[in-house]
Amino acid sequence: MNDHDADLATGTLFGALEDPALNSMNFLNEVAIRYPDAIPLAAGRPSEEFFDLADVPRYLDAFCRYLADELGQTGEQVRRTVLQYGRTKGIIHELVAKNVLLDEGIAVDPESVVVTAGCQEAMFLVLRALRADERDVLLAVSPTYVGLTGAARLVDLPVRPVRTGEHGIDLDDLVAVIRRERAAGRRPRACYVMPDFANPSGLSMDLETRRRLLEVAEAEDVLLLEDNPYGLFHGDSDRVPTLKALDRRRRVVYLGSFAKTVLPGARVGYVLADQRVAAADGAVGLFADQLSKIKSMLTVNTSPIAQAVVGGRLLAHGCRLATANARERALYAGNLRRIVDGLAERFPRDPDVTWTVPAGGFFVVVTVGFAVDDRLLERSARDYGVLWTPMGHFYDSVTDVRSLRLSCSAVSGAQIDLGLDRLRKLINDRRSATGTGRGRLADGAPGEP
Ligand SMILES: Cc1ncc(COP(=O)(O)O)c(C=O)c1O
Repeated sequence: MNDHDADLATGTLFGALEDPALNSMNFLNEVAIRYPDAIPLAAGRPSEEFFDLADVPRYLDAFCRYLADELGQTGEQVRRTVLQYGRTKGIIHELVAKNVLLDEGIAVDPESVVVTAGCQEAMFLVLRALRADERDVLLAVSPTYVGLTGAARLVDLPVRPVRTGEHGIDLDDLVAVIRRERAAGRRPRACYVMPDFANPSGLSMDLETRRRLLEVAEAEDVLLLEDNPYGLFHGDSDRVPTLKALDRRRRVVYLGSFAKTVLPGARVGYVLADQRVAAADGAVGLFADQLSKIKSMLTVNTSPIAQAVVGGRLLAHGCRLATANARERALYAGNLRRIVDGLAERFPRDPDVTWTVPAGGFFVVVTVGFAVDDRLLERSARDYGVLWTPMGHFYDSVTDVRSLRLSCSAVSGAQIDLGLDRLRKLINDRRSATGTGRGRLADGAPGEP
């Protein structure tokens, strides 16, 4: 190092940069890049099977025609809407409002919609706004999505875990955590939940649990942050109304993503924030408008070109993404079944290896009798040729996690079979090495690496 070089030490930078949560996504991506031939049972990305570059100009065109024909814009206005800096809250807010009404039964004023650079930005905006001072804390059902934990770190908002229980949230624990935090002088602002096929647990809340959760939120005066990227992939099960559709008291801030239902590369998501906010001068506005102020200083506006592509797809399907994703839903349901059946075939009557059986979504959690960490993932990728996600990435402060997450979304049926063969070999080798469970009698599963 030369004395005159502008070298920095992490100790002199934002403290959260040392936090493992912030490195989680990059680490998992790097492992996947280093072992491109390993079977990607880790990736939560959507299937590329139905991606088509030709859709992009088609959707763009459909959106421009909508601006002209439905909204009466002149040619010059259309060009400006799509190519110029634009409205901070977005240009597809009316289509988003229509979409959530048709697909989710959520009736919301388009002015309550903020179109964001992916759901990830929506999380950041909401957490930034809710974090007023060091007394504020966020609650989150644990295990939880690492993107949420990371966003909370960026705004110095501590995350307190709430137990998942059998129904997607343990409501008694929720109340206990809220009261404990308040007794310690802190302010629980909101609880982050994924009622539909949660990432990573795969669990969903039944209707009764959703209703009771809304009651608890009201009684205890906290907001609910509902994140719902997987609701449309409900397999053969009936859909249960979202919390926001059941919400009569504006308790729920709804976070939406088009990454799984339109295109992840567009990086478009949104937040529905219809809460009323009273300003110091007595004026009452929408929470969405407060979020818009933050957004104007973060990303200025979500790329109108990307919004136009998403808007075009919405228009092409009458704003119903449920029907637009029929093929995707069938694909993911088939893959999920293949993983669950494949595990049952490979670990029959084996009390030491258990797994969840979700009704939909992307994820299955496998519990084994030994510690599962990043080092084991590296070995799995290098020596066994299969990728998965250590569940430790989804816990804020738990060590010695003995489970891993499998994803069904970015693999073919044949890859699932091969990946599970490889996983069985890894698990059995590991059990032999650690003297845990049935692996002592390891059966020499098919000769994968
Ligand atoms: C639960 C959850 N929320 C949000 C996101 C991020 O969505 P986006 O790509 O729109 O930022 C993901 C992505 O995998 C997710 O699993």
